[in-house]
Amino acid sequence: MEATAAAGPNIAFVKYWGNRDDHLRLPANGSISLTLDPLETRVHVRFDAALPTDQVLVQGAEAPPATAARLTAHLDLVRELAGLHMPARVETQSNFPQGAGLASSAAVFAALTTAAAAAAGLHLDPRALSRLARRGSGSACRSVFGGYVEWYAGEDDATSFAEPLASAEHWQLSDLIAIVEAEHKAVGSSTGHALAPTSPLQAARVADAPRRLRECRSAILERDFERLAWIAELDSHMMHAVMLTSTPPLLYWTPATIAVIRTVHQARQNGIAVFCTIDAGPNVHCLCPAESADTVEHMLGQTPGVQRILRCQPGGPARLL
Ligand code: DP6
Repeated sequence: MEATAAAGPNIAFVKYWGNRDDHLRLPANGSISLTLDPLETRVHVRFDAALPTDQVLVQGAEAPPATAARLTAHLDLVRELAGLHMPARVETQSNFPQGAGLASSAAVFAALTTAAAAAAGLHLDPRALSRLARRGSGSACRSVFGGYVEWYAGEDDATSFAEPLASAEHWQLSDLIAIVEAEHKAVGSSTGHALAPTSPLQAARVADAPRRLRECRSAILERDFERLAWIAELDSHMMHAVMLTSTPPLLYWTPATIAVIRTVHQARQNGIAVFCTIDAGPNVHCLCPAESADTVEHMLGQTPGVQRILRCQPGGPARLL
């Protein structure tokens, strides 16, 4: 009754921000992302009747209580589906900074869902896995799949799931993540989602989402970089506008975040194809065609405040090891 799975994080071009139902993680709007490689989280799950209680280890150490509670609540969903009444030991190991707005929860919950379902003897199809991963962390439903992925907002638990839009091989984009701060962020996304409806801008952002999703879908299918750049930057800025105008306001950016945005815009003015998008943290994802990655990496490396650059490419689906 044990299994190990691996999953990569993802970067959203049309972002998930705010829920219609926080408990079920039914999002206010659909979203589109790219699953990343070589960043990954590996999760080992062992159900064992001899354990006194659930045990959760993160990076080899006992997990903080809030993290352990979130992971075991997810195990409860798996146990319920499998009719299992046994404690489990969970070990997660990631090869990238956690909680710094790098969608770490997406990789953790996509891998945890895949491993726990297999360890519990459940045979779930990819859609069912995606729905279940969504309950742990919304963005995790997208990391169940590789490449370019769309999460349909849906109406209820049964209709809110992700599906592949195009394979990882469809379009060789590079994501250069400019790390300006690797520490754990102050306000996690779950808290942020709950604040979204307090912004007067959220309703407009959600109402316009079908248009952004349409633009983003076509840009990806047609490999139209300029169109993707335009819509993804707009979407990221709209989400951060909502964050800034929530009560209380959320400001994830630091001066170095803005310096990176300026570098990207300057590069674009100089004819280099690149755009940026930022999740719930200060680090900046800079996307470009794979052939310009060296040039962009060099420019980012010269930007004040950039501590490190993580170079990613389109990655595959969550998988059992
Ligand atoms: C800004 O999926 O991390 O990265 O469901 O509460 O775990 P929870 O939130 P999470 O939110 C992701 C927010 C985002 C945008 C995105 O990835 O779509």
